[in-house]
Amino acid sequence: MRHVGAAQAFAPSNIALCKYWGKRNALLNLPVTSSLSLSLGALGSTCRLEAMDGNDTVTLDGTPLPSDHPFVTRLTRYLDLVRPYADAGYKVETKNTIPTAAGFASSASGFAAVVQALTALYGWELTPEKRSILARLGSGSAARSLWQGLVEWHAGVRDDGMDSFAEPLEAQWPDLRIGLLILEAGEKPIGSREAMQRTVNSSPLYRAWPETVATHLEEIKSAIETRDIQRLGSAAEQNALAMHATMIAASPPVLYWKPESMQTMQAVWDARREGVPVFLTMDAGPNIKLLFQAQDETAIRARFPNMQTATALD
Ligand code: PMV
Repeated sequence: MRHVGAAQAFAPSNIALCKYWGKRNALLNLPVTSSLSLSLGALGSTCRLEAMDGNDTVTLDGTPLPSDHPFVTRLTRYLDLVRPYADAGYKVETKNTIPTAAGFASSASGFAAVVQALTALYGWELTPEKRSILARLGSGSAARSLWQGLVEWHAGVRDDGMDSFAEPLEAQWPDLRIGLLILEAGEKPIGSREAMQRTVNSSPLYRAWPETVATHLEEIKSAIETRDIQRLGSAAEQNALAMHATMIAASPPVLYWKPESMQTMQAVWDARREGVPVFLTMDAGPNIKLLFQAQDETAIRARFPNMQTATALD
């Protein structure tokens, strides 16, 4: 038995302030637009990879997953890209510090951690761009999960995707915070892959999406330069709601919102009306993420006591 050893790596989850929604190439996960995210510190995935002969085995948070589990099928197909010989297999152990499949981007941190572990396992000397491209092939948003802080994923224009990778922004904003409100931690009814495709194919509102993103992206980047939470928060919130509007207009509709999601939106808008600078964003799930600055955390926590915030990694 050939045994190459084992390696372990961590990658943070990320939440997009300007969303990626829609692919120009589904096989290569090439996006229609660029996107921009903030990583979640210690919230993310740790992946331990052990090379061995035979079939892959996958455990998630300590539980072995059956070989026909969607995550196993997806991961096995992904690992096919890098197997050094035909019967090379991997023992994969993934641990998440973020609720899986509840719209908390666990596939982003999951695939980014796999790429970092593979890089360590084989001692690959890959540029960060190449690692981001490799992560992108697993899950689009994983391209952004190789770094902490603010990260931009350039859509690129090439058919082979070699110019579609992420990189950290030069301007960072250490006091910018994301608060997670877990309204429902169960599996989502429809995955982002299928939901995205359906939106692109059937939503009459999707036509306006690329231009909308271009405007929001510029606004968000300029707000980051001047650390203007009002401008950043307004653009990020509008971007998320515009993304959901495109999905709701798809056929059949993709609606992730639950009554609690809408109650929470109202609570965020009430807080703002009362002078608390807090904004919201949402991904492919019913949960709400709050966007604010560290100085306002106490006031926001008083209104949203169940809020979970990411702590920095030591
Ligand atoms: O990378 P995927 O296929 O999980 O898609 C992510 C989609 C959103 O989370 C809704 C938006 C984003 O940019 O992360």
